[in-house]
Amino acid sequence: MKYKTFLSGAAAMLAIAAVSTARADITLRHALTGETLDLSFAKKGGNTDKFKQFMQTGKNPYNGDAEAIKKGESLYMTGCSGCHGHEAEGKLGPGLADDYWTYPRNATDVGLFEVLFGGANGMMGPQYVTFSTDEMLHIMAFIRHIYKGDPKKADWLK
Ligand code: HEC
Repeated sequence: MKYKTFLSGAAAMLAIAAVSTARADITLRHALTGETLDLSFAKKGGNTDKFKQFMQTGKNPYNGDAEAIKKGESLYMTGCSGCHGHEAEGKLGPGLADDYWTYPRNATDVGLFEVLFGGANGMMGPQYVTFSTDEMLHIMAFIRHIYKGDPKKADWLK
C-alpha cells in the first residue's frame, strides 16, 4: 500500500517534469465554457516579445512598468471605462479595482487575460475584436496599478 502510494507520487512527479520540459506555454481557457481559447482570432500585431513572455510564464511583464501603465490607462478609457467606470469603480459592469471577483480567476494574470480575450456573460464580449493581445496586457497592467483591494488577495503578485 505504502509502496503503491510512493509509486503514484513518483509517477506524478515524472509527469510534471515531462510537461514542464516539453512545453512551458500556458493554456488559455474561456471563463465560462472552459474551452481552449483560439488565439488565431487575435488582432494582428499583438504577438510581441512581451506577449510571448506572458505565454511562457503566465505573468504580465508590464505590471509595474510606468510607461505601459500609462498606455494601458488610455486604452482602458477608450474601451472599458464606459462600462466599468473611469476608476474601474463599476457601472454597467462590475468594479475591477477591488478584491471581489465574479470570476475568482481574475486575481491571476492568466485569468484576467482569459476574461478579456474570451469575454464572459452578456455585455462582456470578447475583447479581441477591439484590442490586440499586447494591448490587453497593457490594460491589465493599468487595472493592477489602480487596485485598492487587500494586498493578500493580489494573487498575480505571487
Ligand atoms: C459593453 C460593456 C462592457 C465593456 C465595453 C467591457 N466590459 Fe467588462 N464586463 C461587462 C459586464 C456586464 C461584465 C459582467 C459579466 C459577467 O459577470 O459575466 C463584465 C465583466 C468583466 C470582468 C470580470 C469581472 C469579475 O468580477 O470577475 C472583467 C475582468 C472585465 N469585465 C474587464 C473589462 C475590460 C478590461 C474591458 C475593456 C477592455 C471591458 N471589461 C469592457 C461589461 C463590459
